[in-house]
Amino acid sequence: MKLSRRVSAVKPSATISITVHAKQLKAQGVDVISLAAGEPDFDTPEHIKAAAITALERGETKYTPSNGLPVLREAIAHKLQEENGLEYSPDQVVVGCGAKHSLYNVFQAILDPGDEVIVPAPYWVSYPEFTHLAEGKPVIVETAQRDGFRIAPAQLEAAITPRTRAFVLNSPSNPTGMGYDRAALEALAEVLRAYSDVAVVSDEIYEHLIYDGFEHCSFAAVAPDLYERIFTVNGFSKTFSMTGWRLGYVACPDTASAKGIKCIQDQSTTGTTSFAQYGALAALQGGMACVEEMRVAFDERRRFLVNALNAIPGVECLMPQGAFYVFPSVKAWGIPSMELAMRLLDEAYLAPVPGAAFGAEGHIRISFATSHDHLEEAVTRLQAWHAEHVSD
Ligand SMILES: Cc1ncc(COP(=O)(O)O)c(C=O)c1O
Repeated sequence: MKLSRRVSAVKPSATISITVHAKQLKAQGVDVISLAAGEPDFDTPEHIKAAAITALERGETKYTPSNGLPVLREAIAHKLQEENGLEYSPDQVVVGCGAKHSLYNVFQAILDPGDEVIVPAPYWVSYPEFTHLAEGKPVIVETAQRDGFRIAPAQLEAAITPRTRAFVLNSPSNPTGMGYDRAALEALAEVLRAYSDVAVVSDEIYEHLIYDGFEHCSFAAVAPDLYERIFTVNGFSKTFSMTGWRLGYVACPDTASAKGIKCIQDQSTTGTTSFAQYGALAALQGGMACVEEMRVAFDERRRFLVNALNAIPGVECLMPQGAFYVFPSVKAWGIPSMELAMRLLDEAYLAPVPGAAFGAEGHIRISFATSHDHLEEAVTRLQAWHAEHVSD
């Protein structure tokens, strides 16, 4: 079958392929510790599940408006105001099948062929691919570990050309766990003020998984004068451990862009699962105690993991400010990250994700969305593997 150029331009997700390979080994009885998870290892809180079950039993089994239930969009607008200091009307909110779907649709809605999208690296694997799928051109800007993997204002400015259509901001970040504080966001906004054609796609999906007093700031709240060109994307997967529910949303700069995205959904998914949306509503209305429990567990694992990794020769690991990943440099080991990930899988039964997948060679991503016991065992295996295979 001859496939389209569009399909040939897209890379399969390396994170998914490593998880699949690890699962295959597990199915063969190998005791693999997956460090690749992009989802919390906790179950969805009971009150959220109960709300979806009740909705199902009530007969909420039909199509919903393709931009989401009005009651859910209202609750999202309320959340954005209360938690993020952002004014959005429910008509500016479009609920999609996960933040991934919402991001995909934003790229489809704003890019024409050849338009450039500035993506700081290390990046979440899907941003360049969303760009390719919209026939745009990702412009990757490398950031450094010593700068906390944050793009400097001068780097952003240098990357902007007359073809630049969007800048992707992800704070806290997957894969680095690092975030931009208010001052750092203000400095980026200052650059963007001069370029009125550049939209900002602000992916805030890890906003609640933050540590050590890091304060999450929504870009649109820091730079209200840029509101008309900011898309704020968020979802339920990470905060409420609802990855399988497929629920996310985008808050659009105006109702016209929201209508554009709704139109894409009209002609593709017709919105997301009806009863799942009632679960999302319960998540927003049910308080944050369940999230805090998960956050505290992540925090404890995070500190254990970073300290243990930094004790292994050649590993340099920053303490992440958010999310549930660490992104250590293993450059000193001199092994390309893909080869390293494969060897760790085959020789130590560990499954991290190679940094190359995120546009950052010399690193691996380790998820701490797994139990403390698993992490302890993983570190023990990594130490032993290092002692046997890496000469200092
Ligand atoms: C940075 C980032 N954005 C968006 C998503 C998508 O989340 P979902 O589609 O499950 O809402 C992910 C998931 O891994 C992510 O890491």
